[in-house]
Amino acid sequence: MTHSLRIPDLTIPTRPQPGTGWSAGVGPGDAGDPAISDVDVIRVNGAARLAGTVHVVGAKNSALKLMAAALLAPGRSVITNVPRITDIAIMGEVLRRLGCDVRFDVDDPVDPMVAVGGVPRSRSVTIDVPEQPGVEADYDLVRRLRASICVLGPLLARRGYVRVAHPGGDAIGSRGLDMHISGLTRMGADISGEHGFVIASAPQGLHGAEITLEFPSVGATENLVMAAVLADGITVIDNAAREPEIVDICTMLIRMGALIEGEGTSTITVVGVPRLQPVRHATVGDRIVAGTWAFGAAMTRGDVTVTGLDPSYLEIALDKVVAAGGLVETRANAFRVRMDERPRAVDVVTLPYPGFATDLLPMAIGLAALSDGASLITENIFDGRFMFANEMMRLGADIKTDGHHAVVRGRERLSGAPVRATDIRAGAGLIIAGLCADGVTEVSHVHHVDRGYPDFVADLRALGIEVERATAPEEPELTI
Ligand code: EPU
Repeated sequence: MTHSLRIPDLTIPTRPQPGTGWSAGVGPGDAGDPAISDVDVIRVNGAARLAGTVHVVGAKNSALKLMAAALLAPGRSVITNVPRITDIAIMGEVLRRLGCDVRFDVDDPVDPMVAVGGVPRSRSVTIDVPEQPGVEADYDLVRRLRASICVLGPLLARRGYVRVAHPGGDAIGSRGLDMHISGLTRMGADISGEHGFVIASAPQGLHGAEITLEFPSVGATENLVMAAVLADGITVIDNAAREPEIVDICTMLIRMGALIEGEGTSTITVVGVPRLQPVRHATVGDRIVAGTWAFGAAMTRGDVTVTGLDPSYLEIALDKVVAAGGLVETRANAFRVRMDERPRAVDVVTLPYPGFATDLLPMAIGLAALSDGASLITENIFDGRFMFANEMMRLGADIKTDGHHAVVRGRERLSGAPVRATDIRAGAGLIIAGLCADGVTEVSHVHHVDRGYPDFVADLRALGIEVERATAPEEPELTI
């Protein structure tokens, strides 16, 4: 069966045809873009090499939270360099249902891909937040966007009561909320779970607290910072996440009038203020998209220049590419990766930032699968991240997993096959692995890729790859 997903007011980049992609000047609700199909497939041929330049726009994992942070101030906030991806469209809908007016426009400044006549990858989003935003985020949206949970902190701070559907786990693991809940509880919230909702109330308002996270959770750090900026008194978050996306959200909050110190370190101190003002803010570049192309260049023995991101955000990932034999050149807001020979095997351990990002694990496994030698890959963030390894094995990769470790023995080439994207990063990793496989690789369920990569197909084409996107034939219904 083919399911269609349509989000009001922002159409989604799918199957771009020459001349029919998004273009500068096209407003929200652009007509003519095809709806997303659950079974869309991307087909690539093997023996391909990525070569050329790609520009990365704002990070999904920052823009989603920046949009939630806008809830903290009544009035009009504008966030620029927002990627044109499904998850952002869903977050727009979450905010609309909370009573905000949300509009996506041509980005300002227009990103270079527009300037050279390509398909725009980014948008500006204007969010008009009412004095009294709504207090409920429903399951139908939260199940499609786990990050909707990041409205919990801002709404609790603004309204003193919030009901957000529990997002549950997903294809990369169980994904708890205990650190969000215990932190907010320390700040004076009363939190319960009922009928699949997390219900939080703080009728007397939130107060400052000393909170030590058991683990530097990105989502918990963000929720707690967003709650603390309007709380009464001082909040200190120890063992906080240090990701560039955390720094980005704190930078936006500071420009809204928040008093925050220590962002980007393990201790964040927030002095609550009574009110914040709306702001205009540009989203930080997407280090995971950039890292995907870095590993793609290494895997395909290609030569790729990536612009739009401070390469220091990818230091450890780029070090791994160098250890594998790649040549890496960095500039202020760009880097280049070239690989001339078969990569050498390197071990990789995922860790919270500045460690190697878990979201690049599929790319690290792809590189290991093609390397000379055996690599030990250790995943420390998500319990289900190796699920996608079964799909890589369908491409001929030699992978043995044991708990949170995988031993990957490299092969000269992989072997093209039909495979299935199980999550955003696995999908991107499989498509790139397909470029290094004999014959044709068809990756299905690529709507996952659309959730995180603005127009992956167009970027592949810009890097010299022949790629086709199509809707897979419906599977016949079986009867008994
Ligand atoms: N965790 C708990 N309890 C909590 C919070 C987290 O047990 O209260 C566990 C999670 O189950 C997980 C680990 O801690 O095993 C890390 O979770 P974290 O909160 O750091 O991650 P997140 O906020 O849920 C974000 C990104 C992920 C990225 C991780 C780690 C967004 C929307 N998502 O998730 O991105 O992998 O940080 O860097 O920001 C992706 O973009 O494809 C993606 C999965």
